Amino acid sequence: MTNKSYVMWNNKGGVGKSTITFHIAAVYAEKNPERDVVVIDMCPQANVSMMLLGGGEKAEEVLQQFIKSSTPKTVVGLITDSITKSDTNDLSKYIIKLSDHNKNLPENIHLLSGDGNLELIAPLLSERADATPLTVNDKPWVNIHSIIKDLTKKKIGDKPCTFFIDTNPSFSVYTQIAILSADELLVPINADDSSVYAITGLFNLIWGAKTKHSIYGKYTFSTKVDNFEMDRPKIALLLGNRFTQQKGAAHAFKALSSKAIQTMYKEYSNKSSRFVNAQRSNVSDKDAFEKQYSVELRDFNSAGVVAANKGIPLSKMDKNVYHVYGEKIQVSKEQRDLCKETIENLVSRLSALTHEIKPA
Ligand SMILES: Nc1ncnc2c1ncn2[C@@H]1O[C@H](COP(=O)(O)OP(=O)(O)OP(=O)(O)O)[C@@H](O)[C@H]1O
Ligand SMILES: [Mg+2]
Repeated sequence: MTNKSYVMWNNKGGVGKSTITFHIAAVYAEKNPERDVVVIDMCPQANVSMMLLGGGEKAEEVLQQFIKSSTPKTVVGLITDSITKSDTNDLSKYIIKLSDHNKNLPENIHLLSGDGNLELIAPLLSERADATPLTVNDKPWVNIHSIIKDLTKKKIGDKPCTFFIDTNPSFSVYTQIAILSADELLVPINADDSSVYAITGLFNLIWGAKTKHSIYGKYTFSTKVDNFEMDRPKIALLLGNRFTQQKGAAHAFKALSSKAIQTMYKEYSNKSSRFVNAQRSNVSDKDAFEKQYSVELRDFNSAGVVAANKGIPLSKMDKNVYHVYGEKIQVSKEQRDLCKETIENLVSRLSALTHEIKPA
């Protein structure tokens, strides 16, 4: 069995990237004990790190300790050591075992924590990536953009690893590094107009606009990826998040989700090679495309609030009442079960994709 990596990205903010990463990484680890799961938090807001570390003020304190260590136990520690050619072989310098901090998580889930300083080092990363090469074989852009990809080829123990990479919506240098690190791209969207526009934006940013700008064209991410013959992730799934949010507005939501899927299907019809297993799928119309490449995720309502605040995955949520910042929050069993089912469905789709990969 080989390693596998997923990056969650959409250049629209607040669509649920961190929330979904938290839930699927936890359930994926439970369902795949023969693998190690590593969450890489490439967003300086470190939201997924906070949830995985157990949420709330306690998680914030632990995270600050990691950030303040002489070698930060975070993405910044790993990136800085990689650039300065320090020894990065011992991954336990950077990656933590989450069950040491959050008893609700299984033994096989780990975290390369997020770090607000990623924002501060971003200009330095760009500067280094764009440095003039010294020789024909010197490729500073490739080196900087491969730091996390190199990590996704490693193991942290004996087991094969599955990596889940959370991102920031901006297309900054650290997001570009994150996108180029993964085999597959998961695209969460909400049922709103801006999510529909964001799909086109995502294709333009990653694969390049159909007509290249006469001046900026040669400096774009996409041109560089082409010139350096680097691999982009393939699109695995469109995640329709919170499509069941407002019952009364179900019809309008359906129309928007249909528009989003149509926009994605147009991209598929244009270049199916950008999608996972396109050559093996029998997708000949929008409905078949929807079935193969999209998943709907329900609104988690109060279960989502409790999960994020306490770092409890849905599978471990077994009470009807939780306390969040002094308030009593009701989470009915029915609601917990529905949310759990949603995540398990998504994880089994991903696990099926993982096991399709043949050993090299
Ligand atoms: N399925 C869901 N049900 C209920 N609430 C959700 C769901 N998905 C996301 N949320 C809520 O929506 C808000 C935004 O989610 P989240 O932070 O995961 O988005 P994001 O895409 O990571 O945002 P950013 O772009 O800032 O990184 C959060 O308050 C989160 O709790
Ligand atoms: Mg986020």
